[in-house]
Amino acid sequence: SDGAFDTDVLVVGGGPAGGAAALALATYGVRTTVIGKYGWVADSPRAHITNQRTMEVLRDLRVEDEALSVGTPQQLMGESVFCTSLAGEEIARIRTWGTEDERLTEYAAASPSPMLDLPQPYLEPVLIGNAARRGAKVRFDTEFLSLEQDGEGVTARLRDGLRGDEFTLRARYLIGADGGRSRVAEQIGLPFVGEEGKGGSMNIVFEADLTRYVEHRPGVLYWVLRPGEGIGGIGMGALRMVRPWNKWMAVWGYDINGPGPVLDHAQALRIVRGLLGDADVDVRIESTSLWTVNDMYATSYGRGRVFCAGDAVHRHPPSNGLGSNTSIQDSYNLAWKVALVLRGQAGAALLDTYSAERAPVGEQVVTRANRSTGEFVPLFKALGLGDGLACEDAVAGVRRGRLPTAEGARRRRELADAMQLKHYEFSAHGVEMNQRYLSSAVLADGEGEEEWRRDRDLYAQPSTRPGAKLPHAWLVDTAGHRLSTLDLVGGGGFSVVTGLAGQAWVEAARVCAARFGVELRVVRVDEDGARDVYGAWQRVSEGLDERGCLLVRPDCVIAWRHAAPVDDPGRATAGLGRALAAVL
Ligand code: FDA
Repeated sequence: SDGAFDTDVLVVGGGPAGGAAALALATYGVRTTVIGKYGWVADSPRAHITNQRTMEVLRDLRVEDEALSVGTPQQLMGESVFCTSLAGEEIARIRTWGTEDERLTEYAAASPSPMLDLPQPYLEPVLIGNAARRGAKVRFDTEFLSLEQDGEGVTARLRDGLRGDEFTLRARYLIGADGGRSRVAEQIGLPFVGEEGKGGSMNIVFEADLTRYVEHRPGVLYWVLRPGEGIGGIGMGALRMVRPWNKWMAVWGYDINGPGPVLDHAQALRIVRGLLGDADVDVRIESTSLWTVNDMYATSYGRGRVFCAGDAVHRHPPSNGLGSNTSIQDSYNLAWKVALVLRGQAGAALLDTYSAERAPVGEQVVTRANRSTGEFVPLFKALGLGDGLACEDAVAGVRRGRLPTAEGARRRRELADAMQLKHYEFSAHGVEMNQRYLSSAVLADGEGEEEWRRDRDLYAQPSTRPGAKLPHAWLVDTAGHRLSTLDLVGGGGFSVVTGLAGQAWVEAARVCAARFGVELRVVRVDEDGARDVYGAWQRVSEGLDERGCLLVRPDCVIAWRHAAPVDDPGRATAGLGRALAAVL
């Protein structure tokens, strides 16, 4: 019957969402074709912050080392400076992306993988290149035009960018990862909430050696406040590191309600020079682009055999650095489900859980990112900046904040408080790590609502509750090398995680694997090769008896938990079987 299908899954778009979908599907052995409208992957830096959960996904897809080799490491990401220009006065500084003294060990403890700065032109070849190496067919210069679906599959009409002619391609499923102006989402009529075009921004990529301004305060973002300039008298731009310390991107806002901005070479150079505050630095402008600030998400991610992922379904400002992270994680959630359904190991209803699990995450991410943008207002207020201020007044206002006066003291207090609020943008470890899924592919165990011990957005809370990802704990293998609990699960298959005494589950897994025809790996923490020598798993799995069990999905999310001890293999098999039947 394969003759009727050119491919099993057609992925439209080769960005972070599409690249990750193609990579995961190819890794799971699914016949996949990925198309991109242009001749190559993203040619400008765009998204760059790559959080630990995404790094764990890349680790499971066996490309983490490659990503690390092309990115900029966490220790160079930490200083976020607020200044009047890079060469000018420093207003405030905040440690970001988990590098703050109080947070560094928390980040280290939460995951086997570090944060990384990985701009899209470096990330995308890792995803697409490895997808191709693992068998995905990659087709650039191919534009998606339209689709039609029926009970068996999807027929996509595409245009060959070289020849200019149109042709059709038939697939069993189609994934629309075609970005913020998704034609796929539009054609299947996905419902959206929110608004687009709330603000306008210019990206200017340039080369300049800025070592002497940043080496002593290394970071990925240098915020430049140019009082009086820009929209509403608040001129705030950013200099973003692309490569330490000679490749950069300048970001500067424009009034979206005015006539479109002129961004020719002279204007780009003027903006960059203004942000640098040093007329003598050699600057070579590489490229410019415009983008809009959006606040929009889809409430449903699929229709029939067509699913959307990434910016196609959530569009938000770059705050919190969630763009490519959320896109990659969408695809990771979807890929194993599609693989299981294609292989006939799961019913099609499993695919409905993609939307049920990811749409709430998309909503949360869009809301958080937009809120973070708004949380600059207290900072502006503390600096005496606001709507309608003339340039001179704004500059004078900022200067008054540096005076040894009562007003200066108040301003400095307000500034310190305003900077604290920015931890919700720059160290929102909880936003990054605390996703909890609720769907028919997760079986609640009657424990009631999760109790958040600290601020849910700021702090990661590991949990063995169904719907959470398996907590990370370092174990050691037979040679004494460290390995993470996350290294023992995933890989496209299900796992049963129990303890050394969890004999009953070993037998249960053997019976259930045969009955359901799925891969069911058994992880017995503390057996040889997975020794809990630090007692780290004991701590992080508190409440889970050593003779209890976790059923872990291919995306390392816990589907089911039996916390109490079970010794009878028959009982264990019945419980595990019910759980698998529900998920599949
Ligand atoms: P993405 O847009 O990356 O990829 C879409 C893919 O689909 C592309 O390969 C495209 O060619 C393809 N495509 C589109 N239509 C198609 C069609 N009809 N047929 C075939 N292929 C098609 N984020 C951030 O965190 N910091 C930042 O500074 C920026 N800056 C920024 C600048 C610009 C100019 C843009 C466009 C976006 C940003 N972003 C950003 C957002 C960030 O880039 C975004 O969140 C992720 O790239 C989303 O990844 P996706 O894979 O979903 O879409």
